[in-house]
Amino acid sequence: MEWKSEYEKLVNSALEGRKNSYSPYSHFAVGAAVLGKTGEIFTGCNIENASYPVGICAERVAISKAVSEGVRSFKALAIAGGPDKNPGSDICEPCGLCRQFIREFVPAGFPIILAKVSDEGEIEEKVVYSLEELLPHSFGPDNLKG
Ligand code: THU
Repeated sequence: MEWKSEYEKLVNSALEGRKNSYSPYSHFAVGAAVLGKTGEIFTGCNIENASYPVGICAERVAISKAVSEGVRSFKALAIAGGPDKNPGSDICEPCGLCRQFIREFVPAGFPIILAKVSDEGEIEEKVVYSLEELLPHSFGPDNLKG
């Protein structure tokens, strides 16, 4: 029960974050929610920019919010994204930059939940990947230890 209610809560938080998406260029709205070890949830949305490369993804916003509040240990991350005209989401894979960003703070087995949610708010499909599945053979903090 715990895992189910926890991931559902996290997906719902990602959808909440997604509501604040600023995506006037791609019209692709993404939300993310990261669960801190303390139980606190930090949400994020993608924030685009007229100078396109300056935009930032939802995952990095959520994790940056947590880290800047002193939370660096996480239990899970949920992502929900899709065309901004739909309240629901598709399965949205995290981009390569975000995979590396996430990798900095989490162990190999860390769960990343991708959810397809209907416009009525039902979780229709969920996929859970470990960080290692999404970013195998990665470079991380250990590589810089002397
Ligand atoms: N986007 C995210 O926020 N997270 C991802 O991992 C995939 C892409 C955003 C970036 C951009 O604002 C929009 O989705 C389209 O690429």
